[in-house]
Amino acid sequence: MQVIKVHDKEFIPYLPETLIHEKIKELAAQLDKDYQGKKPLFISILNGSFMFSADLFKELSIEAEICFIKLASYKGTKSTGHVITAIGLDTEINNRHVVILEDIIDTGKTLSEFLPQLVNQQPLSLKVAVLLHKPDAMKYPVQIDYCCFTIPNRFVLGYGLDYDGLGRNIREIYQLKDEA
Ligand code: IMP
Ligand code: MG
Repeated sequence: MQVIKVHDKEFIPYLPETLIHEKIKELAAQLDKDYQGKKPLFISILNGSFMFSADLFKELSIEAEICFIKLASYKGTKSTGHVITAIGLDTEINNRHVVILEDIIDTGKTLSEFLPQLVNQQPLSLKVAVLLHKPDAMKYPVQIDYCCFTIPNRFVLGYGLDYDGLGRNIREIYQLKDEA
């Protein structure tokens, strides 16, 4: 098994690149179907979602727009519980079909704070698409409309996700190795 070390921790391979791309293609096909003729606006949440968003967006065939915001709540391998808006939304969402793109839903804190702000701006519809979801970590209920992988409550990195800034460029997803 190919163990990698990032900062002080060891990680083991978890989701291979081919499987990630397969799931993203399936999601794109579903979105093509659900949003045909609706010119949806995708809002990608940086930093973690950049790779997922780019790969998904390339697979879409429908007319669609994408914009980016930056929210952060993580320090190291733990959620801080505080959500900071580092780059805000600069696009009008009133009367738009909006789809949020998020790398991972963990406690749900980030989206549980952000979604109501969007609802206030009265989009025509608002849905959430995520690459990864850790249901056992969920503390703040969030609607998830599209999800590529449901995973156990264990820290992961790679494919855009980081551990203290590193690991985002790894092509597949790794999981924190047992520390026992
Ligand atoms: P939440 O607000 O607790 O749902 O956390 C959401 C954000 O924390 C995600 O968008 C990620 O950027 C980050 N995050 C949560 N779990 C992990 C993980 O296992 N690895 C890397 N980042 C994570
Ligand atoms: Mg994120």
